[in-house]
Amino acid sequence: MSEEPMTGNLERVSASSGSVGTASKAEPVHDDAAGCEGTLLERMRGYWRMGDWENLSCLTIEELRVNPDRAELAMLVVAGRLQLNQFRDIQQFIQLAREWGASQKSICEILAAGVHNSLARVAAIDKQPARALKHFEIAIGAASNGNDVKLIAQTRLAEQLHRLSSRGEQKPAVAMQRAGQSETSNILVQIEAVLENTPDAPPLLIAAAEAAQRNGDLQSAIRYWQRLASVDGAEMSQLYYDRLAQAYKEIKSFPLGSAGDEALLGDTDKHQVLGRIHQILQPSNYLEIGVQTGKSIALAKCNAIGVDPAPTISVALPDRVKLIRATSDQFFAEQALNLLSEPVDMAFIDGMHLFEYALRDFINIEKYAGQHTLVVIDDILPVAPAQAARDRKTRAWTGDVWKLLPILRERRPDLSLLLLNAYPTGLVCISGLNSKSTALQKAYREIVSEWSNIVLVPDEILSRVGALPCEHSDLDMLIKRLRAMRTKR
Ligand SMILES: C[S@@+](CC[C@H](N)C(=O)[O-])C[C@H]1O[C@@H](n2cnc3c(N)ncnc32)[C@H](O)[C@@H]1O
Repeated sequence: MSEEPMTGNLERVSASSGSVGTASKAEPVHDDAAGCEGTLLERMRGYWRMGDWENLSCLTIEELRVNPDRAELAMLVVAGRLQLNQFRDIQQFIQLAREWGASQKSICEILAAGVHNSLARVAAIDKQPARALKHFEIAIGAASNGNDVKLIAQTRLAEQLHRLSSRGEQKPAVAMQRAGQSETSNILVQIEAVLENTPDAPPLLIAAAEAAQRNGDLQSAIRYWQRLASVDGAEMSQLYYDRLAQAYKEIKSFPLGSAGDEALLGDTDKHQVLGRIHQILQPSNYLEIGVQTGKSIALAKCNAIGVDPAPTISVALPDRVKLIRATSDQFFAEQALNLLSEPVDMAFIDGMHLFEYALRDFINIEKYAGQHTLVVIDDILPVAPAQAARDRKTRAWTGDVWKLLPILRERRPDLSLLLLNAYPTGLVCISGLNSKSTALQKAYREIVSEWSNIVLVPDEILSRVGALPCEHSDLDMLIKRLRAMRTKR
């Protein structure tokens, strides 16, 4: 993973003698001193904690065969070699570890620990010391049951920060790109095998996405980043959004699904509908989550804020549009309070196509809402189940944003939802917002665990039951009412 392995400033303990020195070259590790300084396994765990990858990686298969702890030892060798980008024989070590009794879980844990170590470095480079510390603690904890995990993690972090400040560090993406394609294929094979049994382990997803991206398998990379987004939620780092955006930029287009899977519906294009809403509502401010090319935010004739971690603006945007390059979660955590000084008149949610993101966006926007606020959500009506998959498989992709309909109907019956048969994937207009309501926020975790694994898209969603024609007078009436409420304030 890392271009340059992080070796400890800690003095190296000679494997065979137990003496403290600064060996410039790793000495082979033997178990002959076990009597005076613990078993080979204990010493190898010690190397893991100290980040002494050279000593960790130099055990041979012959040495392992005769050791009662050979299964765990083999995995520690793998962990060391991965940190040194030495992919030779790794498959064989993992295979042997399995044969010697290592469980899939423990294999996963040690691989994940290695990835955590790399992630800690990336977080340090990304100037996120708290996150780096967390990753170091997880990495070190994998081979330690002692109380010293925090202390060692702090030492590793201090050392990493020192290295960064004294020498400068290459950007992780560049560093990652350095590893050869065949090497990354190896990691990918390992990680994919592990992921089969431990779905959605973030460090493995990151490693898999990165490996796939470097191998040019952009479709897999996007799916892995997307899966990470669904696991990491608000924690998803900008770094990974950048990689996702890069993959989107480079991929020519998603493979076309079957005609049924790619089918689209609607009587009026969504941008046309949004344009009409702007015209009638005449909001004095507008907030958009998910800007992409800028086509929808360009419709706003008022002061507008657009939030997107990876915008790809291709239309001219006037000065009154303020573009914030951040995830919506970051925006609400760090900037919204300053930037949203007036209640939001109109908001458009069209960011990450996962229901929990859209739900968080709605919860956050409602805090800045007045009774007159209109929130429009895109992608609420997939036409085919494949379009609603959480990890993208089709060109037309709504994700599972549709879940907001049943969630809001059940949890917030006080809201008014007006569904529109907009092209290509439907719109919903939400009014009756209440900035004091905490119902959704309080139930957020419960809602997410209730809905995350639901994959069946109800027929009434697919066939757009209750969706009004976009020209319907109810829409005009609603907008005029909201406009009147605003001007009365
Ligand atoms: C479908 S596009 C938006 C299209 C645009 N609203 C339009 O109609 O022209 C979705 C955008 O959401 C952005 N996005 C993804 N995750 C996001 C997040 N967590 N917060 C905000 N935007 C996000 C993506 O970078 C992408 O540009």
